[in-house]
Amino acid sequence: MYTIKKEKVMQNTLSFAKLVKYIENYSFEEFFNDWNVDDFIDYLYDVSEECQNEKWHCEYGATKMVIIMDDEEIVFKIPFNSIRNYWDKTYEFFYGAPSTSTWDYCEAEEERYDMAEEYGFANYLAKTEIVYNTKNGIRIYIQPKCTTRNRHKTTSKRNYRVFSKWYRGSLPIDDTKWLNTFIDCYGAYKLKQFLQFLENEDWDDDLSHDNIGYTKEGKPVLIDYSSYME
Ligand SMILES: Nc1ncnc2c1ncn2[C@@H]1O[C@H](COP(=O)(O)OP(=O)(O)OP(=O)(O)O)[C@@H](O)[C@H]1O
Ligand SMILES: [Mg+2]
Repeated sequence: MYTIKKEKVMQNTLSFAKLVKYIENYSFEEFFNDWNVDDFIDYLYDVSEECQNEKWHCEYGATKMVIIMDDEEIVFKIPFNSIRNYWDKTYEFFYGAPSTSTWDYCEAEEERYDMAEEYGFANYLAKTEIVYNTKNGIRIYIQPKCTTRNRHKTTSKRNYRVFSKWYRGSLPIDDTKWLNTFIDCYGAYKLKQFLQFLENEDWDDDLSHDNIGYTKEGKPVLIDYSSYME
C-alpha cells in the first residue's frame, strides 16, 4: 500500500514549493474550471523552468487539473471550483454539482477512499489526499502516479471470459486487460465484490479507461473515483 508523508513532500520537493509559489502568484478569477484552465497552464509553462525542461506536464478532465512531474511518484491534483452560468449571470452554481453546496471532486475522492478503507476495498483506489491550501484558496491534493499502460504479461484472457459469464449483468468497468489483471492479482471473487460495491454505492458512472490505471507495481486501481454529480 502506497503511503506518503506530507512533511516529506513539503520539505524535500523543491518543485512542490515552486508550484505553490507559482499558484500563489496567479490571480484566479471567481471560478477555476475547464473553460479557463488553459490560461493557468500557459502561465505555468511561462514561469516554470521545470516546464521548459519538459520535466512536468499538465492534464485535465471535466472536474480536475493534474500536474505530473517526471521525477515524482505522486501527481498533484487541483479540483475545479465554481462557475457562473454563461447565459444567466446572476445564477451561480458549482460545476457538475448541486447548486446549494460547494463540491470539490478531490475531496469527494478523499471521502470515498475513507469509505472504501472501511469496507476493505482501499487497495483498489489510488489514494487522494490534501497536502496544501494556498493563500489564494487553491487546494492541492496528491495521488500516487499511475499509468494506463498495462505491463502485466501473464494475464489469461480466459479469466475475463469466465468472469463476465459468472458476473451476470453489465460490468461497470469495460476494460478487459484491467479486469484480467485484477483477477490475476486478487482473484475473481474479490473482483465481483468490488464491482458490486461500486454499483451499490453509485460510484460506477464514470469508470472509463482514462479513469482506471495501474500503480508503479502494476496493480490495477481506480484513478478517478469521484464520479460526476448531475
Ligand atoms: N494518479 C495519476 N497518475 C497519472 N495520471 C493521472 C493521475 N490522475 C489523473 N491523471 C491524468 O489526468 C487526467 C484527469 O484526471 P482525473 O480523471 O482525475 O480528472 P477529471 O477531471 O475527472 O477527468 P475526466 O473528466 O476526464 O474523468 C486523467 O485522465 C489522467 O490522464
Ligand atoms: Mg477522469
